[in-house]
Amino acid sequence: MNRTIVALDFSSKKEVLDFLSQFDEPIAVKVGMELTYAEGLDLVREIKEMGHDIFLDLKLHDIPNTVKGGMKNLARLGVNLTNVHAAGGVEMMKAGLEGLEQGSGNNPRPLLIAVTQLTSTSKEAMNNEQGIPGEVIDSVVRYAKYAKEAGLDGVVCSVHEVKAIKEACGPEFLCVTPGIRLASDSKDDQKRVATPAYAREQGSDYIVVGRSITKSANPKETYQAIEAEMNGRSL
Ligand code: C5P
Repeated sequence: MNRTIVALDFSSKKEVLDFLSQFDEPIAVKVGMELTYAEGLDLVREIKEMGHDIFLDLKLHDIPNTVKGGMKNLARLGVNLTNVHAAGGVEMMKAGLEGLEQGSGNNPRPLLIAVTQLTSTSKEAMNNEQGIPGEVIDSVVRYAKYAKEAGLDGVVCSVHEVKAIKEACGPEFLCVTPGIRLASDSKDDQKRVATPAYAREQGSDYIVVGRSITKSANPKETYQAIEAEMNGRSL
């Protein structure tokens, strides 16, 4: 899978197909709740049939049996990567993995990664609402360790958390990082952003990039420049 995953944060199939028609080679894309709830999973099948790799970002969080059943059906879509909330616990994460294994049959199992603390969660909200004391980074690393214990392939995290997570969970444990901006971009609503080169330097395995590519004047060129930067090349 390419190291740049383009977030298809569109709300209609037409916008998605118009966007993808600019690329003559398969790319890696992220399909999230907005698009899935608007167009259903048939669009995921269609994007897959076009040859693109898919990160299905639905962040499952429920009792283990329900997550297992959900994952079994998501695996049948043939997506490459999907996710759960680590807050659902080790038993739930293990059940999700089992579901993916069962649903994959003889095909490769989709990679499973965990969301630790959402980057929108402040220290105050974590301390007060969730009742977790201390710093956010410590909770992130703790959740990452439990994700690893459950057998998951990695986590979604901020670029700024990659080093601590790799130190705790090992270099093979995948870190998929959103919050990426080109040096020349506006930050939009992202607070702590990083360039692709910095993400690579920190050890990020895959970056998720939305608006820097989708809102670019030339999405294909921007995508290629970002993918090159992630691979330590310049165009
Ligand atoms: O447009 P932008 O590059 O900010 O989009 C980033 C994508 O990554 C969005 O789909 C957003 O929901 C997702 N994401 C994020 N921060 C997280 C987790 C996911 O920006 N912590």
